[in-house]
Amino acid sequence: MKRRSLLKNSFLLLGLPSKIHRSNFLNIDNSKINWDKVRESFPVISWEKLHLNSGSAGVMPNPVLDYTIEAIRYMNFKAPYEVWGEWQAIKKSNINRIQRMIGAPEQSVEIVRNTTEALNMIISGLQMKENGEVIISNNAYPFAVNAWENKATKEGIQIKKISYQLPDTDDAILNQYKKVISPDTQVIHITHMTHREGHIQPIDRIIEMAHKQNIQVVVDGAHCIGQIPLNLKDSDVDFYASSLHKWLNAPHGTGLLYVKPELVSSLHNHPSSYPGANDKIAKFEHIGTRAFHQEIGIHAALDFHDQIGLIPKMNRLQALKEYWVEQLKEEPKVNVHTNIDPNYSGAVSTLSVEGFSGGQLVKILDRDYDMHIKSVGGLWGSGVRMSVNIFHNYSDLDKFVYAIKEIAA
Ligand SMILES: Cc1ncc(COP(=O)(O)O)c(C=O)c1O
Repeated sequence: MKRRSLLKNSFLLLGLPSKIHRSNFLNIDNSKINWDKVRESFPVISWEKLHLNSGSAGVMPNPVLDYTIEAIRYMNFKAPYEVWGEWQAIKKSNINRIQRMIGAPEQSVEIVRNTTEALNMIISGLQMKENGEVIISNNAYPFAVNAWENKATKEGIQIKKISYQLPDTDDAILNQYKKVISPDTQVIHITHMTHREGHIQPIDRIIEMAHKQNIQVVVDGAHCIGQIPLNLKDSDVDFYASSLHKWLNAPHGTGLLYVKPELVSSLHNHPSSYPGANDKIAKFEHIGTRAFHQEIGIHAALDFHDQIGLIPKMNRLQALKEYWVEQLKEEPKVNVHTNIDPNYSGAVSTLSVEGFSGGQLVKILDRDYDMHIKSVGGLWGSGVRMSVNIFHNYSDLDKFVYAIKEIAA
């Protein structure tokens, strides 16, 4: 490509609106959104397999992909750090928009690469007393559990593991934590929307209960941003970690770290950050050279998201989920392990088929039905996690329902 056209394309990135403003498929009223057009914004047609695993990672819609590709070109066209300097205004505006979107105060959010990284920053940064205790449940994400176990080995903290089956009521979940709190408890680690059953846990009530006893709460919100409304300030959240590449349809390798502003200095400084930056959320920015273009692509993902709006998106995901669950929940040998009430789950839900492990179902769905899905195992046994997304239509779900019925028959 000639230098001039490269530059021309790349002007898009200098703070000008992304191409998404030109799309016309959306409206603020859910009923007026043309979901077929939304679907067309994704590269669905070229997929060989039906993608039922957005819980692991979402996909970028074409406008976000185009914008991000343009950003890659631009970053490679000049000295990358010159470009990163030019992009600071976009980065700042992304953070401000995200802060507004999740009800977070200023200076509380930093963009990182994923939930895992944000959790590592929080868990390794927490200054706990020797023998100080963290409570964590069987519903926590395994790599988050690893982070706590490694901290225990290094720093001599205690891990109290509890176990409870989901779905369950808010009262019952709250009680699981309440009854095991001890004078040594310093931290509760909880997953907001769980990775197996997609259960939305009552973080507000857990935080309120914990704070009364001077206990801090680390929330793994990997699945929540872009999927359910959040107000981290009202919920009095201490620490929150999320991925933007799951439900915000942002470029892969983008995530978010939230620290309540008054707690920033209580976390150990990030190893590569300036000692004098310890009280600033920006201390977590010093992670070296990275795929800056991915981070800048968040701008386009936010535009795309805003064009739909969170509530219409949530309603659509709910309708898609209900559609397949309603058809399978009475099916002999099929068990749904998710409470599909929108107060208790979003797009992620789980089922098992008697006589088949989750791994077997994954293989059969892949081999015989061209579907990509993830296996999960809970206290209830082994099954598959089904993620609906805004690029699905009802005919996709008919195929899924048909496949499960055939397997179960
Ligand atoms: C609850 C939960 N936490 C954390 C993660 C890790 O997310 P990432 O790979 O984006 O760091 C996942 C991934 O599926 C998850 O389900």
